[in-house]
Amino acid sequence: MFLSHAVAHGDTLIPLVLNCFAVEQTLCYCIVGDPISNRRLVTASRGDLIVGNTERLNSVVDMENGDNSSSVNEAGITRRGLLKTSVHIAAVSALAGISVPQFVYAEESNTIQIALVGSGGRGAGAASNALSTTQRPTKLVAMADVFPERMKSCYQNLSDTFKEQVDVPEDRKFIGFDGYKNAMDCLKKGDIVILTTPPAFRWVHFKYAIEKGLNVFMEKPTTVDGPSTRKMLALYEEAQKKGLKVGVGLMCRHCETRTELWNRIQDGQLGDLITLRAYRVSGPTGSAFVKPRPADKNELMYQIRNFHGFLWVGGGAFSDFLIHNIDECCWMKNAWPVEAKGYGGRHYRGDYIDQNFDVYTVEYTFADGSKLFLEGRGMEGAATEFASYAHGSKGSAVISTSGHWPSKARIFKGQQMIDSEIVWQGNDVVNPYQGEWDHLITAIIKDQPYNEAKRGAEASLVTAMGRMACHTGRVITYEEMLNCEHEFAPTVSELTIDGESPLICDAGGRYSVPAPGINKKREY
Ligand SMILES: NC(=O)c1ccc[n+]([C@@H]2O[C@H](COP(=O)([O-])OP(=O)(O)OC[C@H]3O[C@@H](n4cnc5c(N)ncnc54)[C@H](O)[C@@H]3O)[C@@H](O)[C@H]2O)c1
Repeated sequence: MFLSHAVAHGDTLIPLVLNCFAVEQTLCYCIVGDPISNRRLVTASRGDLIVGNTERLNSVVDMENGDNSSSVNEAGITRRGLLKTSVHIAAVSALAGISVPQFVYAEESNTIQIALVGSGGRGAGAASNALSTTQRPTKLVAMADVFPERMKSCYQNLSDTFKEQVDVPEDRKFIGFDGYKNAMDCLKKGDIVILTTPPAFRWVHFKYAIEKGLNVFMEKPTTVDGPSTRKMLALYEEAQKKGLKVGVGLMCRHCETRTELWNRIQDGQLGDLITLRAYRVSGPTGSAFVKPRPADKNELMYQIRNFHGFLWVGGGAFSDFLIHNIDECCWMKNAWPVEAKGYGGRHYRGDYIDQNFDVYTVEYTFADGSKLFLEGRGMEGAATEFASYAHGSKGSAVISTSGHWPSKARIFKGQQMIDSEIVWQGNDVVNPYQGEWDHLITAIIKDQPYNEAKRGAEASLVTAMGRMACHTGRVITYEEMLNCEHEFAPTVSELTIDGESPLICDAGGRYSVPAPGINKKREY
């Protein structure tokens, strides 16, 4: 593997955001995050700290190690790397509740200030994309997180790479559930806040950003259930009224090649789209497999740390990982499905205590009767695939294969996806993680309408619809999902570090898990 080889040969690795993609069954690493200048963030050797996209990084590191223990999952970094990091970080929880004076960066009046809320793997990636945009000067001025060690490593890596653009002294680093307010209070109207916590907190943080008149970049999924989707759709309207620019991290929509494929499909090159297929099957990914909580760990914080494992925090592995493939298929179809039926189960969970199934399969139906078939699996040793396909009456297409980018999108004249049948092939140049930022900044500079919050909420809802179909064993319609009353975390805006979690375990340390056919109205 690239990482092993590079390090074994004494090479350097530059993981500003280190994305790793499963190429068929072979893993390769691709470094993204600063494609413009290729500036180096850290020089790593095997076992060193890598701040990356934990969704994929963990998966690959786990697979590389043949290990799905929580050593990597918990922090998205390796232990040795964490020990080597020596940034001083303020114990700023004491500042919670104290109003922080509005900070206005005085150097260039056209500098866009950035605050980062959720200083983890993707937060580091999104911030580096923000600081890599070339249209306007950008500066990171405040950070928030609930874990000091997460912020510490994120700050270290960003400030090492973007020395001139990271201006986050100790009194603008905020730890705690209120930290998001303090961080946003450091911005002025028109600046950008990055929301990269697990999605449970998205609507809470988005609401405050709108109150403050801030532009927003927020990661997917933006909602985890029906009630949070309704809140997010209402907030979208509020943001619209204020003319705020909002980007949502469904970056595949910003991929040039997929955009060309979409145009070709709309022009009729595939004829009528009849079937779409998507696969996200791999070994244990991220924190989707959660070991029993050690007795000395706070329950709430353990769940947040392992957010892929608990439906209230992250929507589970289904919502976090499958949303991209669902979204890109629905984009090509130019519609959201109206209903879903699904299947799944817990076959190999051993003593894992998370709420995920290890297999999911969903049949989504669109209003015209056409289908999207979705396969999701987290299972050691089984075949892996990470791809989306479209089949029309006049031909077929790869939407993406072997990961998110490059998409390798192409069109075939028939249904056989073989080289001799290719009639068009795209060539991805711009990394869509950077492209989505360039588009957001352009919209801000030109004051163009730009609000992806509605689409992001709808994609999150459609994803939850498939998940709920699997978890309940029933056909779930779009309307039922949207109007579903089961709010996973009604107390999410009031959490405190020492407080109770919205999900409580039984005396044996186990949580309620979905039981299709038995629990038909609620997922757990
Ligand atoms: N678009 C993509 O390809 C992509 C890739 C990876 C992750 N993501 C998304 O980004 C989000 C974060 O994922 P990640 O992989 O970076 O996880 P992560 O665990 O590495 O980072 C999340 C960070 O948020 C912090 N946090 C949790 N609750 C908080 C709160 N209430 N206030 C402030 N900070 C809080 C955590 O301590 C952690 O540092 C998820 O929604 C995930 O789906 C998107």
